[in-house]
Amino acid sequence: MAVHVLMNQKGGVGKSTLAMNLAAVKADVLTAPGDSESDSPVLAVSIDPQGSALWWAERVRELPFRIAQSHDNPELLRSLGSLPGIKHVIVDTPGWIGDTPGSSDNGPAGSALEEVMAAADLVIVPIVPEPLSFDPTARTIRKVLEPRGIRFKVVINNWDARDGKVDLQQTQEFVKAQGWPLANTVIRHYKVHARAAAEGLLVTEYAANRVGLQAREDIQRLCLELEVGGK
Ligand SMILES: Nc1ncnc2c1ncn2[C@@H]1O[C@H](COP(=O)(O)OP(=O)(O)O)[C@@H](O)[C@H]1O
Ligand SMILES: [Mg+2]
Repeated sequence: MAVHVLMNQKGGVGKSTLAMNLAAVKADVLTAPGDSESDSPVLAVSIDPQGSALWWAERVRELPFRIAQSHDNPELLRSLGSLPGIKHVIVDTPGWIGDTPGSSDNGPAGSALEEVMAAADLVIVPIVPEPLSFDPTARTIRKVLEPRGIRFKVVINNWDARDGKVDLQQTQEFVKAQGWPLANTVIRHYKVHARAAAEGLLVTEYAANRVGLQAREDIQRLCLELEVGGK
């Protein structure tokens, strides 16, 4: 059983995109054709009260994993690491969580986040290759993750190859200079990702054209890297 949590105080860095698509790839690998979706060993949990993951999931015709909207369900969150029939849990979290998530200022979402962090085997911290995302990412890691001793990995998302490598390299250097673990996999920017939620599509269902396959390859590669990296 593994609990992976997407987290960054900055909104718009790809937490929900990666949560839903990593869940889709895991479910794809762990399910045989004909298996019932309600028996899926993969559970996506959203503790974002705005629930964009749920909004997306509701649009998917045959969701290949289970989903729970749980910002106000502490019981489920407390048992995340030991749910019967579940092998992988992937948790999507809200953008602005503050520097002290458990404090009462953050309301139920803050205490939900504390429960989730207590259960996390790994926190995946998406960052986009723009200097504006560096500070909130640093705060998330220094004020929230490092003080709790939580294992984490930074993943660069939304890199547009047409912009050249300068922003990418600057982001890689920034992450490495902080001494943070950085995934080798870079998730490239593709419009299909941006349209997927509204269209009710998961990365495993993208059209098998060049862009669709490259977009899928990135998520599959990230999934593999995170699993191979082990605990
Ligand atoms: N790799 C990507 N390529 C293109 N669009 C992306 C990519 N990652 C995220 N997006 C888009 O950027 C926006 C923010 O992503 P989202 O996953 O909602 O971020 P968060 O959950 O961190 O707020 C969404 O519209 C999403 O579709
Ligand atoms: Mg989100």
